[in-house]
Amino acid sequence: MSGKLIDGKAFSERVRARVADAVSGMASAGVVPGLAVVLVGEDPASQVYVRSKGKRTVEAGMRSFEHRLPATASQAELLAMVEQLNADPQVHGILVQLPLPSQIDSAAVIGAIDPAKDVDGFHPVNAGLLATGQDALVPCTPLGCLLLLRDHLGDLSGADAVVIGRSNIVGKPMAQLLLRDSCTVTVAHSRTRDLAATVRRADIVIAAVGRPEMVTGDWVRPGATVIDVGINRVPNPAKGGDSTRLVGDCDFDSCAAVAGAITPVPGGVGPMTIACLLANTAVAAARAHG
Ligand code: GUN
Repeated sequence: MSGKLIDGKAFSERVRARVADAVSGMASAGVVPGLAVVLVGEDPASQVYVRSKGKRTVEAGMRSFEHRLPATASQAELLAMVEQLNADPQVHGILVQLPLPSQIDSAAVIGAIDPAKDVDGFHPVNAGLLATGQDALVPCTPLGCLLLLRDHLGDLSGADAVVIGRSNIVGKPMAQLLLRDSCTVTVAHSRTRDLAATVRRADIVIAAVGRPEMVTGDWVRPGATVIDVGINRVPNPAKGGDSTRLVGDCDFDSCAAVAGAITPVPGGVGPMTIACLLANTAVAAARAHG
């Protein structure tokens, strides 16, 4: 490949080490940040994420609280649990793992979380603070992408950035963060008329659509920086049977041949998401005791 690999795993280790330092500094003031993760149901991918979040939380010197509800849990049960965590002084961050079962209204649950404990940054108060340039808890995945971009490119101001995807979790907050760093931002999506031509204009491409290997090298401007947010499990015919492999939203080989730099999947954005979750939890705890 001609492009440089952006090693999110190595960078996330540095971020987690900084968080652990900050956490040990808070311990002298008697503060131990606590993160509560709520998992509803048995989705295997969500169980893997939740386990890994708990492990990293403890490694950073923080308290980890894991709460599980059955897939049949009612919205009222989940809201009662959120209320209990809002009131718990040992809990500084609350994360309700998404997606939730269909009988539960995600927006109602997110809206019930105390914005000061909303370490996902999904509450409308935090989304509004980010959109108006005020201090907010910022969604972890886009924050991780921004840190990787700044580390690789330095000052982002004036760069043409194209975000593919308009979700509340990644696309929209990513666009806000890039705008805050003075990029010229285009948000593209499934109805964008000529997606390839739009992406080809970009100095920075953020792919967050959830479509395996959709972005190909002929869409990428030579030298562009490509951040691949996708984590898609696809069949792996090379290995046969039921075997699968993880791929991003970008076709790695063709994109890497043209890009100036690119994140791999796995080992790119994924580890940064957890590192930023820990950072948000430490920030929420510091504010609670500030
Ligand atoms: N499911 C997939 N990504 C996320 C995330 O960042 N936060 C939560 N709460 N659920 C998710």
